[in-house]
Amino acid sequence: MIKKIDDMFFLEGKNFSYVMRVSREGFLLHDYIGEKIAPVPYPEDSRGWWCVQTEDADGVCLDELRQEYPGYGHTDLRRPAVSCGPAGLALKYAGHKITDGKPPLPGLPSALGDGAETLTVTLRDKDAKVRAELNYTVYDSYGVLCRSAVITNEGDGSVTLDRAYSASVELPRLGLSEMHLHGSWGRERHIAENRLVPGVYDISNARGGSGHQINPFVIVKDSLATEDSGFCLGIMPVYSGNHSTEIEVDQRGRTRINSGINPFMFEKTLAPGESFTTPECLLAAADGLGELSRTFHDFIRERICRGKFARAERPILINNWEATYMDFDEEKLLSIASLAKELGIELFVLDDGWFGKRNNDRCSLGDWVVNLEKLPSGIGGLAEKVNSLGLKFGLWFEPEMVSPDSDLYRAHPDWAVSSGIRAPGLARSQLVLDLTRGEVQDYVINAVNSVLDSANIEYVKWDMNRYVTDMPRKGFNHEYTLGYYRIMSAITDAHPNILFEGCSAGGGRFDAGVLCYMPQIWTSDDTDPMERVYIQYGTSLAYPPSTMGSHVTDGPNQYTRRPVSMNTRGDVALSGNFGYELDITKLPESDLRAIKDQTALCRELRTTVEYGDFYRLSDPFKCNVGGWMSVAKDKSKAYVTFTKMLFEPNSANVQIRLKGLDPSAPYTDRLTGRTYMGDMLMNRGISVQFPHGDFATASMWLIRSK
Ligand code: GLA
Repeated sequence: MIKKIDDMFFLEGKNFSYVMRVSREGFLLHDYIGEKIAPVPYPEDSRGWWCVQTEDADGVCLDELRQEYPGYGHTDLRRPAVSCGPAGLALKYAGHKITDGKPPLPGLPSALGDGAETLTVTLRDKDAKVRAELNYTVYDSYGVLCRSAVITNEGDGSVTLDRAYSASVELPRLGLSEMHLHGSWGRERHIAENRLVPGVYDISNARGGSGHQINPFVIVKDSLATEDSGFCLGIMPVYSGNHSTEIEVDQRGRTRINSGINPFMFEKTLAPGESFTTPECLLAAADGLGELSRTFHDFIRERICRGKFARAERPILINNWEATYMDFDEEKLLSIASLAKELGIELFVLDDGWFGKRNNDRCSLGDWVVNLEKLPSGIGGLAEKVNSLGLKFGLWFEPEMVSPDSDLYRAHPDWAVSSGIRAPGLARSQLVLDLTRGEVQDYVINAVNSVLDSANIEYVKWDMNRYVTDMPRKGFNHEYTLGYYRIMSAITDAHPNILFEGCSAGGGRFDAGVLCYMPQIWTSDDTDPMERVYIQYGTSLAYPPSTMGSHVTDGPNQYTRRPVSMNTRGDVALSGNFGYELDITKLPESDLRAIKDQTALCRELRTTVEYGDFYRLSDPFKCNVGGWMSVAKDKSKAYVTFTKMLFEPNSANVQIRLKGLDPSAPYTDRLTGRTYMGDMLMNRGISVQFPHGDFATASMWLIRSK
């Protein structure tokens, strides 16, 4: 619902209100975001006592006003949402319109608009000759507000934007904290929380993709907010390039938040009449972190992910990477696939090493032609053989890259990203293709499409294994990201029956932009279940389990050397898109029996895990036990997993309260046969019985019994 009453705009989504007003001087001010309030106008009360300020000709000090899309330099000296040089911008209301649905953002991924309503407010700086159109989309059935901005040069000369954030909000509250997801390769999306005091915080990444280090998702919340209550505002740019969420707590304790493209090394020159469209940014306000996550989960599953797989059960896969690396032949792959079928696995994925002369990672990226020495019947022949075993077939690509030792590089050395002043840096012996160039985009689209059209390929893993360095100009990263999006939409539109999974050296590009094309992402190369408890717990703050690839690999784990039981490895992996990545032909009989049981259990519970409501129960960053559960939307089933990191001698069993169940219904745990009442499980809680030893899990598969 969107209403303009007097000088106020009231926007309402499923469980929140967003209120703006046009000030008496004509500026668009942010007034409120939070729990629903009635759309009834109230007086402006945002101005306080001040002195030592600068005023414009009308006596206005913008530094004092909570603006929706602030500029810098003209009576406001805080960090701006939009800027085009020192003269600054002071944008005033110039009109608005309300439309059904949602305008597409040219060249950019964005949320689906069915069931939506959009307010577009036009702002104008008549002196700078710049116009900004701010889009605000709300949905009756989702608690998310989508924002974007279109900035137009209305003058006769050029205008160079040096920042163009998607959204800005300003909270008058004190006592706030910010939370964000940080990490590295193998340690993605751990949770950090900081009290906000006056100063500027830039939660950003400038590594080319959205990055392992800082994920494009930030929460600003009451410091005392918990999982279950308290003001929480989530901010998520739908963007896979260099992103930033900048928080400035000013001299009066007000908190301004700008989110979108990272202004560092960004620049866009607009010719007269030309416009620039920012990426979309999602905002959600909720009571407690749990509700905030569930709000984003529903929205991501239903309005960001799209296509036939967005709401489909995801296949149980086996990937050959950690089983064989690049040392395989058709016979080896088929031996894995045929045993996989017996164990209940549904999809066989051939990872890196199938093309060119790729027997190590120093060559052949860019040459997407099958290596007939390894695979004499080609990809088509292999896919047929895998299909005849009763499995689907999937394939790995890393199309944004080129190896200096490749036919592609020898033919087009200038297609690699280079500053032009020195040889570009190598990472994993590879260079990045310059996706800002149309002919390079076309090459990638054609090369990948021709492989996909040559065989019965039903799954693709799209990898990107290095950062982008040696950029030739400012603004390059945004152009690169637009090139990546053009490629992704051309290839995924042409192949609606292929399930795409994103990957970037594990989870280095885990964002809502990628999820508009690929409904699942490889969460991390680190599959040690203890590490995964942190990674999956942190990831769940923003992203639903249906987006998280989660596999059982060898024990001891190849990176951490932790010896963890097959049971624990399975229990942790069952909380995402389940699969395997190890040489099953070398496993003892007991492990094979465990795999058969795990795949059977996965088939029973995957709809609940992938599409249920997710509740965090115990925070592994704060105690020795990680706990979470997924509850079917109709509360008829729930899958609960607890993980104990280290065994504690002489300790009591911890009692943990479950969430989200039907209080008046009995539930039977299929794994033990025991029955409990929903209210007892949620109010008293359950004493978790872990097996003796480190790295132990305890699961419950609860089925409502009436
Ligand atoms: C990346 C991925 C791995 C695997 C390798 C192949 O590291 O994250 O899963 O695909 O590349 O080179």
